[in-house]
Amino acid sequence: MKLADAKKDQYRKLAKESNYRSRAVFKLAQLNKSYHFLKRGTKVVDIGAAPGGWLQLASKMVGPDGLVIGIDIKEIEPISNVITLIGDITEEETILLLQKNLDGKADLILSDLAPNVSGIWEMDHLKQIDLTRKAVRATIKLLRQNGNAIYKVFQGETTSEFISDMKDVFLEVLITKPDASRKQSSEIYLVCKKFKLKNSQKFDGDNHNTIIS
Ligand SMILES: C[S@@+](CC[C@H](N)C(=O)[O-])C[C@H]1O[C@@H](n2cnc3c(N)ncnc32)[C@H](O)[C@@H]1O
Repeated sequence: MKLADAKKDQYRKLAKESNYRSRAVFKLAQLNKSYHFLKRGTKVVDIGAAPGGWLQLASKMVGPDGLVIGIDIKEIEPISNVITLIGDITEEETILLLQKNLDGKADLILSDLAPNVSGIWEMDHLKQIDLTRKAVRATIKLLRQNGNAIYKVFQGETTSEFISDMKDVFLEVLITKPDASRKQSSEIYLVCKKFKLKNSQKFDGDNHNTIIS
C-alpha cells in the first residue's frame, strides 16, 4: 500500500472509531486547530455538508449557545443541535431558506462543495470553482461584516483569478492544505478572514466560468 493510501485509510478508520460520518472531519479539525474559527457561541452555515462530519464537529465546538446549519442537495441524517436542510446552493430560493433559518447573520461560512466529478480534471476544476463562486454569492447574503469563511477549491487554470477576486471580499485570504487532505488530490482550502461586504460586486452575477453540466 502506498503511503498516501495508508494515510487515507488511517483517517477513515479513525472517523469510524470516533463515530464521525466522514474522514473529511479531520480536515476541518486541523484547519480549526490553526485558525480557531469554531468557538463557543459561533453561528455557522456549512454549504455542501452531507454526510455531516463537519457538522458533527462544528456542533460540538460551538456548544448550546451557537448555531449550526447544514445544507446539501442530498438529505443529511439528523444531528442533535444542528439544522439540516436540503437545497441547491446555485438557487436563490436556497439562500432565502438559509436566511429564514439563520437568526440574523452568520459568523462563519464553511464550504466543502464538490460537484459530481467526470475524471477530466480541467472540467471538474471549472465546475467546482463555478459551484464555489455560488457559495461566495450566498456568503455575501449570509455572513456578517468581519466574519470568516473556509472554502474548498479544486486547483486549476482559474484558481489564481478566483483567489484574486476573493481578496476583494475578504481582508486576508490564506491558502492551505491540511494533512488529512490526500497529497495526490489537488484540493486546497482558502481560509478567508474579515469579510468586507462593500466589495462583493464580482460575485453578484452569473457570468463567471459557468459550466453547463
Ligand atoms: C465532499 S462532500 C462534503 C463532506 C462534508 N464536509 C462532511 O464532512 O461530511 C461535498 C458535498 O457537496 C454537495 N454539493 C454538490 N453540489 C451542491 C449544490 N449545488 N448545492 C449543495 N450541495 C452540493 C454534495 O452533495 C456533497 O455532499
